[in-house]
Amino acid sequence: MRPTKAIIDLDALRHNFKTIQRIASDSRVIAVVKADAYGHGLAHIATALPDAEMFAVATPLEAYTLRDAGIKQPILLLEGFFEEKELPKIVDNDLHLVVHHSPQIEALQRLETNKKLNIWLKIDSGMNRLGFKVEELPQIEKDLAKVECINKPIRLMSHFASADDPKDCFTDQQLKTFLKSTKHLILERSMANSAGILEAHDAHFDWVRPGLVLYGCSPMVGTTGADYGLQPVMNLESQIMSIRHVKKGESTGYGRHWFAEKDTMIGLVAIGYGDGYPRHAKNGTPVWVNGRTVPLVGRVSMDMLAVELGAKHNDKIGDRVVLWGKELPAEVVAAHADTIPYTLSCGVTGRVHFEYRGQQSLGDQ
Ligand SMILES: Cc1ncc(COP(=O)(O)O)c(C=O)c1O
Repeated sequence: MRPTKAIIDLDALRHNFKTIQRIASDSRVIAVVKADAYGHGLAHIATALPDAEMFAVATPLEAYTLRDAGIKQPILLLEGFFEEKELPKIVDNDLHLVVHHSPQIEALQRLETNKKLNIWLKIDSGMNRLGFKVEELPQIEKDLAKVECINKPIRLMSHFASADDPKDCFTDQQLKTFLKSTKHLILERSMANSAGILEAHDAHFDWVRPGLVLYGCSPMVGTTGADYGLQPVMNLESQIMSIRHVKKGESTGYGRHWFAEKDTMIGLVAIGYGDGYPRHAKNGTPVWVNGRTVPLVGRVSMDMLAVELGAKHNDKIGDRVVLWGKELPAEVVAAHADTIPYTLSCGVTGRVHFEYRGQQSLGDQ
């Protein structure tokens, strides 16, 4: 069997969850598990978090997957609904809805149901992505007062644009805008994503919404999860499948993007962009082999990549190689590939074998 696998450590996940609870000790936690739990496996991750008071996803289908997996906690649709005809099923599944534009309110006014929906009003505090502008709020409050099928009081939320950079004062500006525009409303609030949880403690409010930190990575520029006591949940690994001699001046891989500066040995590793390893990772991106990091050399292929083992090495075909995980932070690899750890875990493809370790695992997939 091809040795390329993602080992998902559910004990590390639970450790991270507890760490978040400790950091935001006065807040309740909405675990963000959209995009297949950032590529870690939606049902496995949610099932392993019985203490999460709520889950958040981006699409109704993700929410139904959770319900089918037996998840009983409230589930929040972060973008609300896309089509009015989806509403009856959303109501049947007791999903919480983010409401971020007026047509959604109009659709709720038309909805005929005996049930009451829980909604979260999204306020645009400056990101200019989803949400009502601060000036629109007085009218929106009036419109919502006329909607019969929602539980009152509603809840409020907003989202940070650049909380991952502590030097950027825009986070503080957004926080002030959110507070000022909603101070007359005594409602539950939520604003902090991972970066807000770690570095904007005034933004914790009633509910925090961690995504990346749950999976053990740090969003803060120049740091890793370990700096905050987090543990990587995904360990992406493979094996050396071939070792060869390369003479000074010779190249390896497509496009001849790397030339040996001296006679050396390279190892071919059984993982490529077809598995989700970033094709744009540069020469020199660290790869862990036998207790040290060695540089990626040449372009990443679909099914394999090359690393320079050095002229004197003791590595063998079949030796374990870690692309990211406990031995090598995903944040470090991401920086070498001009990306962020989010895209690394989300990008792991269905070809990779997933193995779940730790208590309450649902087994392999
Ligand atoms: C509205 C909202 N809240 C929370 C999160 C979680 O963000 P993070 O993974 O940075 O914690 C996201 C993710 O993009 C989001 O869109």
